[in-house]
Order: sequence, then structure tokens, then C-alpha cells
Amino acid sequence: MQTIKVAVVGYGGMGGWHADRIREMEKFELAGVWDIDPGQLENAREEGINTYDSFEDVLADEDVRLVVVATWNDAHKPLCIGAMRAGKNVISEKPVTLSVADLDEMTAVAHETGKLFTVHQNRRWDDDYLTMKNIVEKNTLGRVFRIESRVQGSRGIPGDWRKEAGHGGGMVFDWGVHLLDQALTLCDDSALESVWAKVTHITNDECDDGFYSELKFKNGLSYMVEVTTNNFITLPRWYILGENGTAVIEDWDLNGKITVVHNWDKIDSVPVKAGTGITKTMAPRTDETIHDEPLEKIHGRWTQYYDNIYDVLTSGAEQIVTHRQMRRCLELIEAVFASAERDEVVKF
Ligand SMILES: NC(=O)c1ccc[n+]([C@@H]2O[C@H](COP(=O)([O-])OP(=O)(O)OC[C@H]3O[C@@H](n4cnc5c(N)ncnc54)[C@H](O)[C@@H]3O)[C@@H](O)[C@H]2O)c1
Repeated sequence: MQTIKVAVVGYGGMGGWHADRIREMEKFELAGVWDIDPGQLENAREEGINTYDSFEDVLADEDVRLVVVATWNDAHKPLCIGAMRAGKNVISEKPVTLSVADLDEMTAVAHETGKLFTVHQNRRWDDDYLTMKNIVEKNTLGRVFRIESRVQGSRGIPGDWRKEAGHGGGMVFDWGVHLLDQALTLCDDSALESVWAKVTHITNDECDDGFYSELKFKNGLSYMVEVTTNNFITLPRWYILGENGTAVIEDWDLNGKITVVHNWDKIDSVPVKAGTGITKTMAPRTDETIHDEPLEKIHGRWTQYYDNIYDVLTSGAEQIVTHRQMRRCLELIEAVFASAERDEVVKF
């Protein structure tokens, strides 16, 4: 089996993560890392990892077939283009870049050079996402008409480059890119009809520290994506509403439950007290018409991402995260910002 030598550019949190994973995989070999911060290079050497003296040194290493770009977001574009022009295949960390126009330039270079160019959308393999997807695809709740997808923090925007617009900071680019990609991957991305969004600036003026967005798909599904950083009580990671049931996935550990109705038509109820009044409509259902089902936990195998990269490079397989998907996700991100700025629905 041939091994593919990989260089990691940007040896911070995520660059270190890629370097560790690459060292665990038989199909790949870590050739070395490059970072503009000498301290990071020192960290790498302490881990026994080879370091390069410059980005040009990485490109000059003929053994390197694949470059993983894991720098601040604004540096992805020049580094990816430079690597492809030097004959390297490229994985960019997300977001692949900061605008559709920039992505089009990068994709043009990929076509011109014939090199692999893709983005690390690892959260397509998250257990919680796959567990939600399984509920929808198995029709456990009947036709699903609403999905709410949330991640909520309580420490404001991180104090690093993520709070700086010049580096492509902000939570839309940070977490939004994952959650919006998940929405587009669950549904056929061409079925997206419109988006309305609001961004927040509670802890940071320069770039957003969270956002709320409502996506509407042509099949009638309404899909809400929320990323916030100022919540001291968090709501469930997923809330899924179908015609015959509801599911909640509380967290990344897959705590949650599914409740389905087995006697829909038995809707008689006695009024219950509600605040200063009474209600029949909102009276809870009785156990004779609903029951709980166990949440079927789906465990993702993230290494499929790198397996696919290997297959693309060695046997011409199709890349899992395609150029079309990369573009669609950035189009949606641009629409989120446009909607928030104009306070109006953006149609696709
Ligand atoms: N896919 C995921 O789950 C995930 C998770 C975290 C971060 N990320 C992404 O990974 C990237 C890095 O994030 P991070 O949290 O590791 O940040 P980080 O600040 O920990 O690391 C970034 C590193 O890049 C270096 N760098 C910056 N510009 C450079 C350049 N031109 N050439 C070489 N090195 C350069 C910095 O010195 C720093 O060491 C970002 O794009 C981020 O969005 C992805």
C-alpha cells in the first residue's frame, strides 16, 4: 500500500489535531509542519515532528503530495492557491474561504492544475448529526416539518483571531459553517428556498458572536440554525418535530428521547389550568396515545473523510465534500450576512 506524505500548514489547535490523526493512519505519513509562529514550530519539534523553514520549503518538498491548511481563516485562500500551483493536493480547514468570489478563484486553480481541493467538513460525521439524520431518514416521526439545530456557549467569542474581522473571525464562519453544511447535506442542497437571519454582537463589535437563522426548504421543512456564545442555560442540541412525533437530542453524548403518537385521533382532553386561564389545546397527551421510543444512537466514523481523500488520490474516487457543496455553503453564509444586514428574507 502506498502512503501519502502530508504537510500541515498552521500548527495551532486544529493543525495539531490533523498532525496527530495523520500520524495514527497507515495510509498517510506526516512529512512535517510549517507555522509562522516560531513557538508552534518549537512545540512540533518537541513532539518529534519535522518542521519546515518556510511555506516555500513545504512546496519544494517533492515527497509532499497533500497539504492541509489549518491557519486563520483569511490565510486559507493564498495558501491553498500557492500549494495547488506548486502541484500539491489540498485540504483546507473550514471555512474554505470568506466569499464565493474567492472560492471561485480557488476552484478555478483546482481545475487548471487538476489537483484535489476540498474542505474539512468533519461534522458530517458527528454522532449527534448522524443520529438526527437517521431519525429523519427512517421516518421515525412521520414527515418532519421542523428541525432546530443549536450550539450554545457561555464565554462570549474567543479572545484569539476569532474576534477579528481581518482574520475571518466570527461565529458564522466558525460554527455556522458546520451547522449550515449539515443542513444542506441532510436536504438536497438545491431544495433550499430562502433564509432569514440575525447576527449578534453581545461580546464583540468587530465580528458576530452568534447568529439565528431560519432556512426554508422547498419540501416545506423549516430548519433553524442557532449559534450563540452568551447562554448560561443551554437548549437541546437538536429538536426535531414530525407529524407523528418529536425527538430531542440533548447533547454530543446523545442523551435524548423520542416520543411518538400511536393514537393520533384520540384527541379528547379535559381542560387544564394554564396560568390565569384554562386550555384544552395545550393539555398534555395521556399515556394511552403516546409512547417513548429509545433513541437509536448512530456513531460516525470520521476517518472515512481521510479514507476518501486517499481513494481520490490513488484510484480517482469522487471527493466526498464537493466543489458544488463548498460553493453552496458559502452562498448560504453570504445570504445569512445579507439577510441580517437588510433584515429581510433572502431567496435562492
Ligand atoms: N474542523 C474543525 O472541527 C475545526 C475546529 C477548530 C478550528 N478549525 C479551523 O482550523 C483553522 C485553525 O484554527 P485553530 O483553532 O487551530 O487556530 P489556532 O490559532 O490555534 O492555530 C492557527 C495557527 O495558524 C498559524 N498561522 C496563521 N497564519 C499562517 C500562515 N500564513 N502560515 C502558516 N501558519 C499560519 C498561527 O500561527 C497558528 O499557530 C481555522 O480555519 C478554523 O476555522 C476547524
